[in-house]
Amino acid sequence: MAGQKQERRPLVAGNWKMNGLKGSLSEITAIRDALSGPLAAVAADVLIAPPATVIASFAAAVAGTRLALGAQDCHAKPLGAHTGDISAEMLKDAGASAVIVGHSERRADHGETSAEVRAKAAAAHRAGLVAIVCIGETQGERAAGATLSVVSRQLKASLPKEINGANTVIAYEPVWAIGTGLIPTASDVEAVHAAIRQDLKDIAGAEGSSIRILYGGSVKPDNAATLLSVANVDGALVGGASLKASDFLAIVRAYEGK
Ligand code: PGA
Repeated sequence: MAGQKQERRPLVAGNWKMNGLKGSLSEITAIRDALSGPLAAVAADVLIAPPATVIASFAAAVAGTRLALGAQDCHAKPLGAHTGDISAEMLKDAGASAVIVGHSERRADHGETSAEVRAKAAAAHRAGLVAIVCIGETQGERAAGATLSVVSRQLKASLPKEINGANTVIAYEPVWAIGTGLIPTASDVEAVHAAIRQDLKDIAGAEGSSIRILYGGSVKPDNAATLLSVANVDGALVGGASLKASDFLAIVRAYEGK
């Protein structure tokens, strides 16, 4: 499964979802310290997206280290009368360097459309944040043989203009694999990531080769090495297994010696 991985530095990103209080700082400092200690030689970018409430305090703890912070959503507008929403500029101000947009839980729980996701990704770019754009098929769509067409349609509708390897990351997350312990076969993952890669090249030309495509959905310490060795899998978006530093670091270790 030799891919073109060398040209893309892997990214292992943790999505804490609606978990984490100020007291969770110890997980952050454990990851931070491992990245400058035992895992210093691992050639991968590492990011945790905690709830927005703790980004600023965690940012102070990771300033100047290899551990980056991301957010889980943003509003498309920079400011204004949008009670309860948080803009990409605010997340940047708090210390985030990236924001996840279009996670399937937001698409399902909040009815977010790909057009809204595209506007949020554009807002991330406007604020100087990396947009981590999530796409993925449901169980029913997979059963109907529609995986590649669904993923391609979501991708094209969710991406803003002027994407490149520095400002955009794609996360392919089959909805049925999120939080279930179910994962696609390596060859299924390879087929979807290859199709996404081709779409990215069609959309962004040469830049399409430099945009990282993460796999997400039940990535755990015991399956990470297999999933992350698949061609065109440039890292992982990890939910449940990112909440404990020890589990998350075991996943980062899949890149040890690579
Ligand atoms: P999971 O979540 O690792 O708990 O399946 C992944 C995600 O939703 O990003």
